[in-house]
Amino acid sequence: MLTSQYLCTTCIKLHNQVALRFLGYRKNEVSKTSQSYPHLNFHIRSNNFAKAETMEKKIHKIHHVVKVEPQPKKGAAAGFVDFIEKALVWMMYDKSQQLHYLSGNFAPIEKETPPCSNLTVKGYLPECLNGEFVRVGPNPKFVPVAGYHWFDGDGMIHGMRIKDGKATYVSRYVKTSKLKQEEYFGAAKLIKIGDLKGVFGLFMVQMQILRTKLKVVDMSYGNGTGNTALIYHQGKLLALFEADKPYIVKVLEDGDLQTLGLLDYDKRLKHSFTAHPKVDPFTDEMFTFGYSHDPPYVTYRVINKDGVMLDPVPITIPAPVMMHDFAITENYAIFMDLPFYFKPKDIVKGKLIFTFDNTVKSRFGILPIEICKE
Ligand SMILES: [Fe+2]
Repeated sequence: MLTSQYLCTTCIKLHNQVALRFLGYRKNEVSKTSQSYPHLNFHIRSNNFAKAETMEKKIHKIHHVVKVEPQPKKGAAAGFVDFIEKALVWMMYDKSQQLHYLSGNFAPIEKETPPCSNLTVKGYLPECLNGEFVRVGPNPKFVPVAGYHWFDGDGMIHGMRIKDGKATYVSRYVKTSKLKQEEYFGAAKLIKIGDLKGVFGLFMVQMQILRTKLKVVDMSYGNGTGNTALIYHQGKLLALFEADKPYIVKVLEDGDLQTLGLLDYDKRLKHSFTAHPKVDPFTDEMFTFGYSHDPPYVTYRVINKDGVMLDPVPITIPAPVMMHDFAITENYAIFMDLPFYFKPKDIVKGKLIFTFDNTVKSRFGILPIEICKE
């Protein structure tokens, strides 16, 4: 009934589920539901809430949540960069270009929706169904200064809380470092993929470097948006963006969603974290990786059933590629070394920062899934 589909903004593929949190199942319903939805990640409390709460406390104790408190600065330096940027946009950017991803069905929702309860239900919601269905997607809060790409939008989570036969809707931004800083300025300030084209793109990169050097913006918490996918693991709902670390989002009892901060697995995670990690429903282990434009270009990681991130396994490939997803089987992790290369110099040619080279063969790398434990 709650099984749903959504489009990942990056790979444009259909996923059968984002994350679903069930609370308060009666024991005889747990096994039945698990059979009906074996692919879902369940967090079931049955009648005994205390046990699950103890588990959550244990997990929070294990993982320190990194509070995201960037320190941007207004003032003369900020005004100086704004002035240069405006002049560049005026001279070099064609404002007549249509930003397709900000119009029509892609147009952003202007405001968050606090929990809106007692929604009209057509049909019937079983009383035993008690949880929250969530999905995330890009929803830019501020008008871009120039270009905009679909991947640029601030992550907004839409949640549907179902409890006691009633439904509540909520939408909340993932409160990222980027969003907090732009809220502080009341305008878009951080670089966008949509700007990275041509000579203008190079200048916009310089604007970002200048703002960082002058401490107008604070990049110590990354530049992620949490807009790509969600996963539920070890009592945590995580909002993901593949060039960043996961943001932890707390689901409140009334359905509201609160961003707690970043998760770095007690400083063991020092690289980016794919938006498509995999959770083994039998072992509760999570398999993930990060890719980078610096060696090692790919790093494989496992978070074990106790929530501990195991040591990194570097994977050497010839050149940096955009590696959006991977796959796991019972025994292997499968990586796709596809010729979708990271080539910053191509910006000058008017291309995106990633280029597909159809003269190079694709390769698949197969790694024993247990390699992290050796
Ligand atoms: Fe994807």
